[in-house]
Amino acid sequence: MTLNADRLWHRLKALHEYGQSPDGGVNRFSFTDEERAVKNQVSKYMRAAGLEVREDAVGNLVGRLEGTDPAASVILVGSHVDSVPNGGDFDGPLGVLSGIEAVQAMQEEGHKNRHPIEVVAFTDEEGSRFHFGMIGSRAAAGTLRPEDFDRTDNNGTSIAEAMKAQGFNPEGFLDAARKPGSVRAYLEVHIEQGKVLELRNEPVGVVTGIAGPVWLQVRVYGEAGHAGATPMNLRKDALVGASEMIQFIEEETSRHPRTVGTVGQLRVSPGGVNIIPGDVEFTLDLRDIDVAQRDAAETAIRAYIRKVCTERGLKSEIKELQRIQPVQCDETVQILMSEAAKEAGFTAPFLPSGAGHDGMQLAVLCPIGMIFARSKDGISHHPDEYTSKEDCAAAAQVLYRTLKKLS
Ligand code: HGY
Ligand code: MN
Ligand code: MN
Repeated sequence: MTLNADRLWHRLKALHEYGQSPDGGVNRFSFTDEERAVKNQVSKYMRAAGLEVREDAVGNLVGRLEGTDPAASVILVGSHVDSVPNGGDFDGPLGVLSGIEAVQAMQEEGHKNRHPIEVVAFTDEEGSRFHFGMIGSRAAAGTLRPEDFDRTDNNGTSIAEAMKAQGFNPEGFLDAARKPGSVRAYLEVHIEQGKVLELRNEPVGVVTGIAGPVWLQVRVYGEAGHAGATPMNLRKDALVGASEMIQFIEEETSRHPRTVGTVGQLRVSPGGVNIIPGDVEFTLDLRDIDVAQRDAAETAIRAYIRKVCTERGLKSEIKELQRIQPVQCDETVQILMSEAAKEAGFTAPFLPSGAGHDGMQLAVLCPIGMIFARSKDGISHHPDEYTSKEDCAAAAQVLYRTLKKLS
């Protein structure tokens, strides 16, 4: 039995309509009307697949297929439907829609699953709006804290306020936590977002582990001043200082093959053409699959920031936005996925994930496994993000076979 690749592809393309950005991508941020609309559409697909649909206390969208043994632990399959700014069509939706397709095909084939299966679209995997990601999977894992709801977006709206505006009650977030032992495993199909599979000419791969990001917000204070009247040797230019720090970040992270450092956001104030910047803020996304290496890079970067401040008479503040530990995927699940791939006719190499995923949160709760689908040119977090219909179907096929083995 194979899946309905056309149905999967049609649904994937249909979600592009939700939160279209003027630059060709999608903007679907947490607790917004665009996200509400896309979840309503995904709910329809879940119901069409015969799933019992609900939303939990933090907005995780859950489609449940009962098993023959109601007392058995549940298998979670999913990903996310929120996006980065001007994001692509596949990062997240491929995993949710593959999960729906797999359980729909299982029922059409008459397969009887012992374990109940729940397809989940986790809230806010990307963290685009509040600079703090994976709210839904943290809540499911029981690791979300009350103070996390105070985090605000760029307009000063807190997560709690945004949730209430969408009809959720932040105080009830603990209801979303899964009881320890209640989850058999978590499986996710996701685009690779890199070039490994493409260079290996492979449609799918099995993920061995997920690199862990640290997000820092670095604030550099100098002295704003007149661009014309202030001699160069008397300046405390916060932007020049910050640029030396950013240059060092690239040098330091480039010294290690698996360490990556990205400054994605930069704010300069007062922001006048003829004013020396006195207050600059930038973000750092620092990752490695090896946490000791990641922490060593972080220590070196923090030391360099202090050094530049001393030399230039600047001040700095560093705020940690989030710190997620790298995780290993479960060995047994990896083997099941590899067998499923071979049965489907794919070699499916093993590879690590540089990108973060909800499984990093759920790893405290249950064994996790991920299947990667090839990304064209390795492009992601961009409107040109693309995975072919055949590769989407291939990844969903491996999920489907893995699910049947596991359930
Ligand atoms: O940032 C990431 O790695 C993922 O896309 N949330
Ligand atoms: Mn992403
Ligand atoms: Mn993703």
